Amino acid sequence: MKAQLKFICNKEIISGEFNPAMTVLDFLRNMKELKGTKEGCREGDCGACTVLVGELSGNYVNYKNINSCLLPMGDIDGKHVISIEGLNVDGVNLFQQFLVDEGGTQCGFCTPGFVVSFTSYLLTAETFETEKAVDYLTGNLCRCTGHPGIIRAANEVLKILNKKEIFTDRIAFLIENKLIPEYFKVAAAKLKQIQKQRIPVNYEGTKLIVSGGTDLYVQQGDVIAGKDINLISELISTDIIKIQNDECIVSASATVADLETSSIFNNMFKGFKDTALLFGSKQIRNRATIGGNINNASPIGDMTSFFLSLNAKLILSGKSQTREVFLKDYYKGYKRLDRQPDEIVSRIIFKIPSGDFKYSFEKVCRRKYLDIASVNTSFYCEITDNKFSVVHISAGGVGPTPAYLSMMAASLSGKEINYENIKQGIDTALTEISPIGDVRGSADYKKLLLRNLLYAHFMKLFPEVITEEVVL
Ligand SMILES: Cc1cc2nc3c(=O)[nH]c(=O)nc-3n(C[C@H](O)[C@H](O)[C@H](O)COP(=O)(O)OP(=O)(O)OC[C@H]3O[C@@H](n4cnc5c(N)ncnc54)[C@H](O)[C@@H]3O)c2cc1C
Ligand code: FES
Ligand code: FES
Repeated sequence: MKAQLKFICNKEIISGEFNPAMTVLDFLRNMKELKGTKEGCREGDCGACTVLVGELSGNYVNYKNINSCLLPMGDIDGKHVISIEGLNVDGVNLFQQFLVDEGGTQCGFCTPGFVVSFTSYLLTAETFETEKAVDYLTGNLCRCTGHPGIIRAANEVLKILNKKEIFTDRIAFLIENKLIPEYFKVAAAKLKQIQKQRIPVNYEGTKLIVSGGTDLYVQQGDVIAGKDINLISELISTDIIKIQNDECIVSASATVADLETSSIFNNMFKGFKDTALLFGSKQIRNRATIGGNINNASPIGDMTSFFLSLNAKLILSGKSQTREVFLKDYYKGYKRLDRQPDEIVSRIIFKIPSGDFKYSFEKVCRRKYLDIASVNTSFYCEITDNKFSVVHISAGGVGPTPAYLSMMAASLSGKEINYENIKQGIDTALTEISPIGDVRGSADYKKLLLRNLLYAHFMKLFPEVITEEVVL
């Protein structure tokens, strides 16, 4: 399948027929001969392929750092793609100079990715702080210098920016400080112009649904460019997260980053941002959607675990009907879903937490960031008169599907909040799971992990009732 696409690549407006399933990495390196964007792992792990993708929002362009190895061409239609060559038009920029001065580059293979990710931080940051900048760099790996020199270089840039007067025009400020080139000034106007001329692509009839592509392009990287794809961004409306009556409605195309920055989510769930930060890297969160996390049916999907503990419902939209199914009933076996071939998940809906409620998410993986869980669990409860009035708990990595711990929930519901009842609930949970041993640990290890993570929820939420000494 070919599609007529129109977008901006660095300074240039590009219009033509492209395979929408081809990766932006292949377009840049093979068609445009822009070899500064590197191909490392092709699995979203190393960040050497990172590009900026800008999308028009009113009179501004929102730029995000994204792994071009997992990004289909169809998803840059109407947008602005910037490779390292697009950041270097006026020579080495301020950050690049500090990378040299601080010993932050050696073979240079990773350097373009770091420069792009740091620029993405500068283009979006509310305040310039090294710790926050580092979060934008967690998806970039350097095997030569180690990361301290790179972080020092970022710190030097931020020190200079923080000495300047507060800016009103971010783009002008970054141009003035030799961090981005002049043409950024006209990007919004150019995008407006191409949006008017853009012909929407008709993907109807094609089968393979691609949302963020962060699973599909890893699983099927070798063959996906030969397939007809159907982009979820063309199928689902863009009103991402909203409150309606007593429910919160989340579009299946909402990304983890959309939730991470959502005031609705952060006001509702204290500490939600920290939960989101445990998911992949900034690049992955900028693309990974909630619909994709639920539908890849991985037993260790973090967002699936989170929404299970909210007892969320899915809205399935088919050709002739729309229906609802509870997420806890959606999984019929390993990678088997209650979904017809013509259906997509369009929305996720949950009841807004009410009264005295508490929530907690726990995840263990081999390294804290940029890793998939060995075991995860999410807990939600409402409390009335020192009793658990509503309880929902999930567990990932302890069976063939993401698990809703219904027996544990039943064991705790209506019970007083004390150690004996919590212990009984956790003992019950351990009878309703069936972990298997794999590269992430033996079955017994995963059982022990889940036990400890379940206790961690209660130690965090009810420190007056349950302490480490009691559990050990
Ligand atoms: C480096 C890296 C780190 C990662 N870290 C984590 C992590 O920490 N935690 C975690 O949970 N996951 C992680 N993942 C896995 C992945 O990013 C997530 O599962 C992500 O949410 C998938 O969403 P997507 O939009 O990219 O899905 P896609 O790859 O686009 O799709 C996945 C599957 O879902 C189907 N699908 C997508 N949307 C819909 C829909 N609306 N209706 C019906 N079917 C649909 C697709 O057809 C496909 O079968 C990581 C992946 C990578 C590469
Ligand atoms: S090539 Fe490694 S993240 Fe894309
Ligand atoms: S400088 Fe060689 S990988 Fe970073």
